[in-house]
Amino acid sequence: MAAMDFDADVAVLGDPPRALVRDASAGPAAPKRGAILMCAPDYFGVDYIINPWMENQVGQASLPRAWAQWENLRSNLAAHSDIALVPPTPGLPDMVFTANAGLAIGDTAVVSRFRAKERRPEEPLFSEWFEAQGYSIAHWPEHVSFEGAGDALLDHARGVVWCGYGWRSGEEAPKHLEKIFGWRTIALKLVDPRFYHLDTCFCPLSGGWLMYYPAAFDIASQEAIRAIVPAEKRIEVGQKDALSFACNAAEVAGRIFLNACSDDLRARLIDAGFTPVVTPLSEFMKAGGAAKCLTLRLPDAASAVTPRG
Ligand code: ARG
Repeated sequence: MAAMDFDADVAVLGDPPRALVRDASAGPAAPKRGAILMCAPDYFGVDYIINPWMENQVGQASLPRAWAQWENLRSNLAAHSDIALVPPTPGLPDMVFTANAGLAIGDTAVVSRFRAKERRPEEPLFSEWFEAQGYSIAHWPEHVSFEGAGDALLDHARGVVWCGYGWRSGEEAPKHLEKIFGWRTIALKLVDPRFYHLDTCFCPLSGGWLMYYPAAFDIASQEAIRAIVPAEKRIEVGQKDALSFACNAAEVAGRIFLNACSDDLRARLIDAGFTPVVTPLSEFMKAGGAAKCLTLRLPDAASAVTPRG
């Protein structure tokens, strides 16, 4: 099994994590390239309800188990990528979901404007972090909600940004992203409240592949996806995989890290040339998040180049 092969190859756990630790007194540096931003779950928990997954889960997440699951994900990712860490903050249990910090392309970052008041105190913290790393922060209109790389996903093979809206990010978000970054931005309307962020049901992969759950989108968006991504590159997942957040996957170097994966989906990912690696994240699922939500891919050198499209 792929997961077991992979576990064997991270047996080199004695290696120090390649976390990027910066001395704040050193001032802004050039933005880090290609690292994955994470936030340790010191203060993680389900403390309020802002999505359907959190219903009946307040106080139910086990912190020790969350730590073990997060650390397993971090160490697996660290074997293939640099990891940057933003300090966790008391009272902000969802800050672990760094996908929602914002969206960075090239040297520019847009910081999220959260829809839920519970998450708005995260905004200045992520903003400070991006600034300290040397990103220039683009102006974002106060009245437009936008939840970062939870809803805006780069598709490097096509040079486009896919932007989900309807539950969290506002309908106007795609237009503003296109203006700020100059990438063609395709708006997709999310219609199932369980798939409230684009990254819960849609995952562009390298080589132009797309793993997604069609029923999470309205009909026009399903058509838009099919018009842009040819059938042979679409990996459509069924409801069971979708509800295990299989699409909430983080891809690094051909490996796809995900909370769970049916045998059928595993076989299709392997056929497409990927190695699926299951890293169980049950405690974070109680808050409505999994592997992708716990990570933010910082731009690599290639994304600084103006895309086509
Ligand atoms: N409890 C968090 C929220 O509702 C989960 C965020 C998951 N993040 C994501 N990128 N899908 O905002």
